[in-house]
Amino acid sequence: MERIRIAGPWITKKEIDYVTDAVTNAWYGNANVYHDRFEKAFAEYLGVRFAIALPSCTSAIHLSLLALGVGQGDEVIVPDITWIASAAPVTYVGAIPVFADIDTETWCLSAKSFEQCITPKTKAVIPVDLYGNMPDMDAVQDVARRHGVAIIEDAAEAIGSEYKGKKASSFGGTGVFSFHGSKTLTTGEGGMLVTDKDDVRQRVLFLRDHGRKPGDTAFFNTEVAYKYKMSSMQAALGLAQLERIDELLARKRQIFAWYQEELAKVEGITLNREPMGTKNTYWMVTAIMNKKFRITKERLMESMNERNIDCRPFFHPLSSLPAYGHLSQAKEARKRNQVSYQISPYGINLPSSLSITKEEIVYVCEVLKDVVSKRGK
Ligand SMILES: Cc1ncc(COP(=O)(O)O)c(C=O)c1O
Repeated sequence: MERIRIAGPWITKKEIDYVTDAVTNAWYGNANVYHDRFEKAFAEYLGVRFAIALPSCTSAIHLSLLALGVGQGDEVIVPDITWIASAAPVTYVGAIPVFADIDTETWCLSAKSFEQCITPKTKAVIPVDLYGNMPDMDAVQDVARRHGVAIIEDAAEAIGSEYKGKKASSFGGTGVFSFHGSKTLTTGEGGMLVTDKDDVRQRVLFLRDHGRKPGDTAFFNTEVAYKYKMSSMQAALGLAQLERIDELLARKRQIFAWYQEELAKVEGITLNREPMGTKNTYWMVTAIMNKKFRITKERLMESMNERNIDCRPFFHPLSSLPAYGHLSQAKEARKRNQVSYQISPYGINLPSSLSITKEEIVYVCEVLKDVVSKRGK
């Protein structure tokens, strides 16, 4: 059997046709045609006013922080379990990331821990819609409102997910997406920032083009800023993928259902949850092993790798990474964030590419069950 990959896209003739058209025609006066179509369709799909295409989600978080006025010495609360890209831009703007614990069910930011981490310096919070799930947004918004903290919703992994009928990314001052090659909707690399606020939009458009007014033809810069733009080829790819979003999301949910059929009855393995009122789009199917199996994620990944299966580790708590070793906040988080530290060592992401077949999933689950049954004895 061929190696089973962890992630990968679903590309059809539509995507190839759109990109071919962009590379052929989207120059000169047509240079922005695909950006305009992609941004407009994206905002409409989410039910937000504005969408701005960017080269990555990391740049979208960076510009969100700047546009919301986060800077030197401010504190920004981030869940301890996420990809470092959620937190790295906090450092770019001179602020300090503070790592809050996650919730046992959703694996997303715990509103209670978020509130405990607030200090007079707290300026923003970045809840993350982890692996396609959503935090308890009512509770997160309530805490943020009471303390005057801005929300940047990191929906990088959650296109199409919903909380009480509202789409992921629409719960804060800004929402951000990643279109990295592993994501459900991909442009190879790419990102999007969405917002309902016109002043935020204006500031982001200004900052992402070297500090000049949108549409400026005088090459006249009033601030030193950034060059964060997506190419037309990427925008064309994104538009084609967006026009197929229902099909992409249905496939993701089907993949999760196949895993669930095979693993739901296995005692000691917990899969992604979908709390009442949430639609989870299962970007990565994730399995947490009970401690009784006495197997860490690293050992488990090695065993899967020997059988030709790619897996990924559940994110390490950010506060445990050498990158944040110097932060006194991280030392406190290591003591405080018990849920993050209990779950993280025992979790892996299972292959979730859009091209995976049911037969491959059955094989992955057989191997997984075989490995844990030997350890459980
Ligand atoms: C939760 C989360 N935030 C941010 C990012 C950053 O996205 P990008 O690689 O597009 O900058 C990712 C990407 O993997 C992610 O998973």
